[in-house]
Amino acid sequence: MVFPAKRVLVPGGAGFIGSNFVRHVLAQTDASVTILDALTYAGSLTTVENILGDRVSFVRGRIEDHALVDQLVSEHDLVVNFAAESHNDNSISDPSSFVKTNVSGTFALLEAVRNHDVRLHHISTDEVFGDLDFDDASKFTESTSYNPSSPYSATKAASDFLVRAWVHTYGIRATISNCSNNYGPYQHVEKFIPRQITNVLLGVRPRLYGTGRNIRDWIHVDDHSSAVLRIIEAGRLGQTYLIGANGERSNLEVVQEILRLMGKPIDEFDLVNDRPGHDRRYAIDASALRDELGWSPAFTDFCVGLEATIDWYRNNGTWWADQKTSTEAFYARTGH
Ligand code: NAD
Ligand code: TYD
Repeated sequence: MVFPAKRVLVPGGAGFIGSNFVRHVLAQTDASVTILDALTYAGSLTTVENILGDRVSFVRGRIEDHALVDQLVSEHDLVVNFAAESHNDNSISDPSSFVKTNVSGTFALLEAVRNHDVRLHHISTDEVFGDLDFDDASKFTESTSYNPSSPYSATKAASDFLVRAWVHTYGIRATISNCSNNYGPYQHVEKFIPRQITNVLLGVRPRLYGTGRNIRDWIHVDDHSSAVLRIIEAGRLGQTYLIGANGERSNLEVVQEILRLMGKPIDEFDLVNDRPGHDRRYAIDASALRDELGWSPAFTDFCVGLEATIDWYRNNGTWWADQKTSTEAFYARTGH
């Protein structure tokens, strides 16, 4: 693989997808990595402790810290930004940190890459496009209009627009990717799939919002990382690429699959309060990424990836025990 960087700065590299990406960089390139992470409730050094060393260093700090970011960016030749507030339910309860990190933080990164002419890849979400009808056959493409509906997706959309404006106005060298819902190891238990797996492991019934018919387009986190590497290697500067693996499933189907794989009756779940403004369906058309860059996912069978993920949570209880307690206290307050 022709990887166009020797020193990579990875803001958000102690989180779920960022840490997976750092492992991919180590396995598939010769580059060294600096993780810049604030270690919010969502980031943890235990997620990356076994890779810190000769090729990976760690700096604790916030991406809105202009002076820190400017200094770090000047010492690297590529920035891949995963740092974000990432959970919809939190954004509904308190949007302020979402504006700060996702909008002001992206602004600070953009000013630094502009200042030092450093290549940027910005990680974003398909939620910037809003949602699709249940019976709509179409999917999101690179030309779908932005129409975000939650505080989380609105701040991610704002961050994408900032990147596009800095490309257009200042000519910074940047790409953006918008990926569908990820699953896999090291995902915070506030998110749907690990919440239900850890519930079952603890003898608690899974919780479905509303009727359970909302649809998400699932992709294994390894496939997200391989797609980002491919975009960095061969993507056209200034472009947006959509990342997805044809993984559409209703939340009800996912919960029933988890229960089946964990040896429980498939009706052992509860319906709870719906999320306000709950997006109905997301679906990605990743043809551009597949046709132009020749990328394809390794996990083509959702059940295989899901089973491996269940095993990971079963075997790593010490990683998630503390976050489970605080997460369920939050959900108890919101009626979820
Ligand atoms: P995560 O919440 O697991 O990790 C985010 C990381 O960013 C954490 O380590 C946290 O400590 C760090 N962070 C938060 N605020 C920071 C700040 N101000 N400065 C420095 N570090 C900070 O999130 P994730 O699921 O790994 O998501 C990573 C990125 O991928 C986000 O941009 C998210 O929008 C995007 N994304 C996520 C999904 C998904 O399914 N999880 C899907 C598509 C896109
Ligand atoms: P989530 O993992 O929060 O991702 P996003 O909101 O970014 O899509 O939720 C995925 C789907 O699962 C979403 O439709 C909300 C739903 N959900 C539940 O039904 N129960 C839960 O306990 C959680 C956390 C989410």
